[in-house]
Amino acid sequence: MKNFETERLIIRKISIDDLDQIYENWATDEITNEYLTFKPHKNKEETKKMIDYWLKKYEKGGYEWCIELKENHNVIGIISGDISYKYKCIEIGYSISSKYFNNGYMSEALKVIINYLLYECNFNVVEAIIPSNNIASIKTALKCGMKEEAVLKRRYKNKVTGEVNDLLVYSIFK
Ligand SMILES: CC(C)(COP(=O)(O)OP(=O)(O)OC[C@H]1O[C@@H](n2cnc3c(N)ncnc32)[C@H](O)[C@@H]1OP(=O)(O)O)[C@@H](O)C(=O)NCCC(=O)NCCS
Repeated sequence: MKNFETERLIIRKISIDDLDQIYENWATDEITNEYLTFKPHKNKEETKKMIDYWLKKYEKGGYEWCIELKENHNVIGIISGDISYKYKCIEIGYSISSKYFNNGYMSEALKVIINYLLYECNFNVVEAIIPSNNIASIKTALKCGMKEEAVLKRRYKNKVTGEVNDLLVYSIFK
């Protein structure tokens, strides 16, 4: 798994030294957490377990990056990969601290990661599975060249509001 630099960001492997920043900036952020699968962390031990899981993922060739701001070295977000080897497909998940929303950071990071996954790691397709009411995520996917491929009707229940929505599959092929 490669590390990257863009104009404003360092996109790199996560280490246990990132624990405090990942906890404070991301794992406890309730706004960011609304669309994520885990609940906001109540203590650093929970975040440490998550980082330990990611470190084990590296040993098996998995993909998990943190996003660090060059200007102040804050770790502000995470990009994850979940591989289906059979189809050379990788599902990406992405999230950023709500303090930093709408600065173009995630699309800046994802464009580089998608290019790497398709043209250096040899995946045929990169996909993101997005609730239909998560407009910021849909816009980010579109800005990175992904297109809507499928609609899974009423397959998503928002854990905060309880609202049921469709799940959209966004993808980009090599
Ligand atoms: C999705 C997410 C990663 C985007 O990160 P980001 O750094 O803010 O993304 P960018 O700034 O690159 O792009 C976001 C785009 O969405 C737009 N946007 C955000 N909220 C919006 C809204 N409510 N309505 C319309 N557009 C919206 C922004 O204007 C921007 O588009 P633009 O550049 O054309 O103006 C971030 O919102 C996030 O972490 N959300 C919580 C976790 C999450 O939902 N992850 C995805 C799970 S599927």
